[in-house]
Amino acid sequence: MRILSVFGTRPEAIKMAPIVRALRAAPGVESRVCVTGQHRQMLDETLAIFDLRPDDDLDIMTGGQTLADISARVLTGLDPIMRSYRPDFVLVQGDTATSTAAALSAFFNRSRVGHVEAGLRTGDMASPWPEEANRRVTAVVTDRHYAPTEKARRALLAEGYPGSSILVTGNSVIDALLLVAEDVTAPGPQRRALEERFSWLTPGKRLVLVTGHRRESFGDGFIRICQALRALSAREDVQIVYPVHLNPNVRQPVFDILSGIENIHLIEPQDYRSFVYLMTRASLILTDSGGVQEEAPALGKPVLVMRDTSERMEAIEAGVARLVSTDPDAIVAHVHDLLDDRRRYAAMAQGANPFGDGAAAERIVEDLMICCGHPAALRPAIRRERLMAAVAV
Ligand code: UD1
Ligand code: UDP
Repeated sequence: MRILSVFGTRPEAIKMAPIVRALRAAPGVESRVCVTGQHRQMLDETLAIFDLRPDDDLDIMTGGQTLADISARVLTGLDPIMRSYRPDFVLVQGDTATSTAAALSAFFNRSRVGHVEAGLRTGDMASPWPEEANRRVTAVVTDRHYAPTEKARRALLAEGYPGSSILVTGNSVIDALLLVAEDVTAPGPQRRALEERFSWLTPGKRLVLVTGHRRESFGDGFIRICQALRALSAREDVQIVYPVHLNPNVRQPVFDILSGIENIHLIEPQDYRSFVYLMTRASLILTDSGGVQEEAPALGKPVLVMRDTSERMEAIEAGVARLVSTDPDAIVAHVHDLLDDRRRYAAMAQGANPFGDGAAAERIVEDLMICCGHPAALRPAIRRERLMAAVAV
């Protein structure tokens, strides 16, 4: 039984890491990992944190790459690997250009496709762009849809995918979070190293953690987000920490508008463990990221989603996230509201876990084995891997 996992960006690597670890431990499974290198530094840092060593690296990233560049290079780079390896299943994750091109490559080579994080939808092809289309294209060529939530399963059913092809697994981002959580929270050398690394944070100030990178916000959207952050920096009781994504379309407005402002710390993208540490220290998180919308509720951190739509309505419906758009007045008003109203803050910081229970990887690997006719001895082996992973952190 040969499983080829293909991924290329930071969030894909974070969410695939627990699955690759579970595949490695499963009996009778040959697991091969191909990274496309759609991201470079941000991918490599993640591979290192999770001790993942890819078998193939297409190394496709170029500065300011276009969607056509990525798609073309992934298709031509993967084709010979698909032809020679002939995987029983190709696993792809999410909605990036890498995942859709890899799913198409598998389809062209008549391999079955397993789609991790299937069924997320906003219903708006322009937001997020191009991810909403990517997810839908991937779904068309997918054999096993691994839906993180019941809502995602229902979205797939509504599009006509048979119930028998969908499995609700939880989101593997929660598995990943659990893999690093102990390093970050338990007293010990890892925790001390993180405290040392971020010793420049001012203990008396409330930390507002920011991330942003969506293509549909390039230009005006980012300028508006930066205007909101500049206005918020006037509050003396807050410190804004913003690890700035490496996309030049993000870096230019962010550094142009926010450099040199007191209370705003523009820092480089953080490795996953450091970023999770920052989330645990935050009072509030402002983001347009998919993954952060899923992680923050699990950590009991209120999230303001700086987008017009979200495919992760579970958190918003649970009352632990708010959709605030990129309008500066709206962003500023919501931040003031939460920081100044203890009751409303407490209601949002209650902690909720609508996205998973940390066992998504186990469910996905089990399902793949059953689909490939290898049900025997599965559960004990995978349970062992989980235990080993828990002991390792
Ligand atoms: C991509 C995904 C997006 C995902 C995001 C996660 C697509 C179309 N977009 O967007 O869905 O949410 O990743 O972060 O697949 N760069 C570096 N080093 C890196 C990474 C990026 O220098 O390690 C720079 C390069 O100039 C690169 C540019 O960022 O050309 C854009 O990278 P790209 O992967 O095309 O887009 P993202 O905005 O990162
Ligand atoms: N993340 C990280 N370092 C950072 C910022 C984010 O490791 O400096 C993690 C974050 O915890 C989440 C993932 O990266 O798991 C989100 O990635 P991103 O926002 O790039 O993409 P998206 O989730 O929107 O596709």
